[in-house]
Amino acid sequence: MANVLLGVTGSVAAIYTRELFGDLNEAGYSVKIVATRAALYFFDPTVIAPRSAGERNRDVVIVDDDEWPGERYRRGDAVCHVELRRWADALVLAPLDAHTLAKLALGLCDNCLTCAYRAWDRSRPVVLAPAMNTLMWTHPATLRHLLQVAEDLTGRRPPADAATPEALARWLQEGPGRVRLVAPVEKELACHDVGVGAMAPRPNILAALGDLLSTAGTS
Ligand SMILES: Cc1cc2nc3c(=O)[nH]c(=O)nc-3n(C[C@H](O)[C@H](O)[C@H](O)COP(=O)(O)O)c2cc1C
Repeated sequence: MANVLLGVTGSVAAIYTRELFGDLNEAGYSVKIVATRAALYFFDPTVIAPRSAGERNRDVVIVDDDEWPGERYRRGDAVCHVELRRWADALVLAPLDAHTLAKLALGLCDNCLTCAYRAWDRSRPVVLAPAMNTLMWTHPATLRHLLQVAEDLTGRRPPADAATPEALARWLQEGPGRVRLVAPVEKELACHDVGVGAMAPRPNILAALGDLLSTAGTS
């Protein structure tokens, strides 16, 4: 089964990281998490239990201190984000918050997760599962950034009628490359606003990943 790198960012939906990690493992994938500093406000990395004998918690949850361990780099030392990219057959960004989405669109890479994305082999599948407040989601910057990321990953410019995130998600699903946008859903958000912005249900994220990997022949 495929190796899946689960990128977790600073959305309140990161509280579901343990469950999503469990679901991916139960589906048979080998999973490593790479979490931003903000993501660690929402989940405790020490509760993520490695599934393979001999694996330690810190082997499956990678944080920025693993990329910058505090000792001077010596020639020949592993480069954490490149090692992760080599290991991973697929990248799942769930939840993908507005800030990291903006960084991906601009090519900024100032932490382990965004470096892994920037160094990503774009022939490999990527699942994007954004989660944010409704007004963040409907802000024009969000669509602009999603369109840019879709173009970068597929190598094709989305058509003019991909003018909403939902239309962009359909265009991606219908075929140009190995990318899925699993759009957020409507519900009462953690901030008590009601509207679109909650991370899609975990089965939808797994279905998108399974679909991509079966097409790629690496499921
Ligand atoms: C309680 C709380 C909840 C948040 N929820 C979200 C969210 O759901 N989506 C989002 O885009 N940003 C959210 N943010 C803001 C991000 O955490 C913030 O932009 C942060 O800088 C993101 O950093 P990162 O992208 O490096 O993880 C939240 C912040 C706080 C304090």
